[in-house]
Amino acid sequence: MTAISSVRGRRVWDSRGNPTVEVDVVLENGVLGRAIAPSGASRGTREAIDLRDGGDALRGKGVSRALSSVNGLISGTLQGMDVTDQAAVDRAILNLDSSPLKDALGGNATVATSMAVLHAAAAYAQKPLWRYVADHYGCTPSLPLPEIQIFGGGAHAGRRVDIQDFMIMVPGARNFDEVMEVTNEVYFAAGDIMASRGKLAGVADEGGWWPMFDSNEEALETLVAAIEKAGEKPGDRVVISLDIAASEFGQNGKYRLALEDRDMDSGALIDMLGGWLDAYPIASIEDPVGEDDKPGMIEFTRRFGDRVQIIGDDYLVTNAALVNEAVADSACNAVLIKVNQAGTVSESIDTFFAARMAGWGAVVSARSGETEDATISHLSTGLGGGQLKVGSFQRSERMVKWNECLRIQDELGAETFVGGNPMMATWWGSERG
Ligand code: PGA
Ligand code: ZN
Repeated sequence: MTAISSVRGRRVWDSRGNPTVEVDVVLENGVLGRAIAPSGASRGTREAIDLRDGGDALRGKGVSRALSSVNGLISGTLQGMDVTDQAAVDRAILNLDSSPLKDALGGNATVATSMAVLHAAAAYAQKPLWRYVADHYGCTPSLPLPEIQIFGGGAHAGRRVDIQDFMIMVPGARNFDEVMEVTNEVYFAAGDIMASRGKLAGVADEGGWWPMFDSNEEALETLVAAIEKAGEKPGDRVVISLDIAASEFGQNGKYRLALEDRDMDSGALIDMLGGWLDAYPIASIEDPVGEDDKPGMIEFTRRFGDRVQIIGDDYLVTNAALVNEAVADSACNAVLIKVNQAGTVSESIDTFFAARMAGWGAVVSARSGETEDATISHLSTGLGGGQLKVGSFQRSERMVKWNECLRIQDELGAETFVGGNPMMATWWGSERG
């Protein structure tokens, strides 16, 4: 047993320039663990609360209340606890806040603390975090397949287009390095195309090109053109992944594509997306319908679940009970794992295992508001999670996660690259042979 001797929170600043919570956990022997809370812009209503001060200062986004949680109740409770018992630490945090969404302590306070404890335990064990995670949770570590954004949209781009993420995956790559190379080519090919059309206008929140498009589908067409311009055959080594983030433009089964001035019900949205699945090499799709549209998610999964990965993000909010419910409903076949949606490491890992038990895919994910914290690269690798979603291929809060995977690759071995999940086998199985 190695006891936690202090837990201290401080205010730092994220990739959007907003304040956020960093926590230092120090052990008796002086070993330090540190982590920073990320912050989402298109949040699910059932995820842990990102506690903000409100009021006029810092546009209401101050974190002094969350820091009070860390430096008061949480710190007092965790002092003296065994750092290697992550489950007990996280339970103790939960016992301080019985509200389902952690609105008393703040999910930003709890997630930074919980991840800092994990870092401290790994440092105490003198293991890199990915190795500690693999050993602690009994997993076989492997480098994940990235989902990388080429165009940002939705809440990350002032709603310039309705759809949120236009991404690529490179399941046909031989290793993580090759994914980075191909991504560089496709990312800059997309930028060149935008420039040649007079539509290059900077980047969105996660570093993807700003979506100067006249329709949502124009983004898809441009993405295919970029993949081709990069010398790749779309659907061959490189496939497309979309995050529709439909909760951002629909409620109660009614949706509105503002860019195209189109109103549609759930059935019409599903038909439209089905048309895209026929026309473009899309291997994965996230939140195709809203978080409140259970019949829509069941219908979408019934129609397309055997040919595409269907990820629940806002729909499942990294909650094991919701994953189990969706498994029973036959809704979705994969889950997005965002540690700050759950609020603690243990709850996130419970959700990961619920997905794994069901034979689902699991994509460990960043938020649109990020920092230099690269914990998720280690989590994804350590759990052998299969996939990692971090945003685009520009700006250091994104690149720090990809670069951390390259460092891990040097320690773990390039051959451990997963290259996909079971859902995607039909897309690329013959490629890798
Ligand atoms: P968010 O978006 O971090 O802004 O919530 C990410 C996502 O929807 O996957
Ligand atoms: Zn999402």
